[in-house]
Amino acid sequence: MQKLTLITGGHHSLGLAISKEFAKAGYDLIITYHTKEDLAKKAREELMSTYHINVDIFKVDLSREAETFNFTKLIKEKYSSLDVLINNAAYTVEEEFNEKDISNFSKILSVNTIAPFILTKELTSILSNNSAVTNIASTNGLDTYSPLTLEYDASKSALISLTHNLAIALSPQTRVNAVAPGWIATPSTNAMSPIYQEKEESKILLKHFATPEEIASVVFAVSTQFTYMNDAIIRLDGGVNNAR
Ligand SMILES: NC(=O)c1ccc[n+]([C@@H]2O[C@H](COP(=O)([O-])OP(=O)(O)OC[C@H]3O[C@@H](n4cnc5c(N)ncnc54)[C@H](OP(=O)(O)O)[C@@H]3O)[C@@H](O)[C@H]2O)c1
Repeated sequence: MQKLTLITGGHHSLGLAISKEFAKAGYDLIITYHTKEDLAKKAREELMSTYHINVDIFKVDLSREAETFNFTKLIKEKYSSLDVLINNAAYTVEEEFNEKDISNFSKILSVNTIAPFILTKELTSILSNNSAVTNIASTNGLDTYSPLTLEYDASKSALISLTHNLAIALSPQTRVNAVAPGWIATPSTNAMSPIYQEKEESKILLKHFATPEEIASVVFAVSTQFTYMNDAIIRLDGGVNNAR
């Protein structure tokens, strides 16, 4: 039977690199987007014509719980079986501590933590035997904290905690893991000042940010090939020198 993967935010940046890994292996794809409809349509066309797979795109605001629930209802009506769920979409704001407000915190938690929970829980009934859920966390959820992104950091710590509990709840039918990248060379990190990028790169033992492809290949392997990997948090930061 044709295998199917759902990737939130699978239309650009790291998400698109993950979509390509699955497409290369012949998986059909469901991709969610929020604001970038043009990129979602473009990704759909390119993935379908290059890899000869089917790609369905859905606009979903994962910060709205009712919308996320409705989306899962639609997916269960349309598809009888899902092999892989990749919780990739995320939201963040960078603000000074004094400027922080609760509404942003709430939105960040909704997109980064609660939506992965809703999607996983509501789609469990169609997850196939030997299926996988892979959450895209961050080293910010482990130990590279910054007050500028404290809500994001908390949301990724919570996603890591959620990964452990979902692994317990869903095993042995579904393996649940998280990949926790450090810096990735994406359009958003490429927009940072060159001086800041150089400073951050100098701390990395491999001396460069990860390419999206380097992270995506691990996400694919964890989700489909490493069949004994379960309840694992895979740190992918190139090695960081924390010596003072
Ligand atoms: N970039 C890094 O250095 C880095 C490092 C560690 C971990 N990560 C993690 O890797 C993943 C991908 O990061 P990225 O940098 O490639 O992402 P990105 O470029 O910031 O894109 C964020 C994605 O999330 C979607 N999204 C945001 N708010 C949403 C909402 N309310 N509802 C639905 N979708 C929403 C966006 O959709 P639209 O574009 O359509 O709005 C987009 O696809 C994230 O989980 C991130 O936390 C990234």
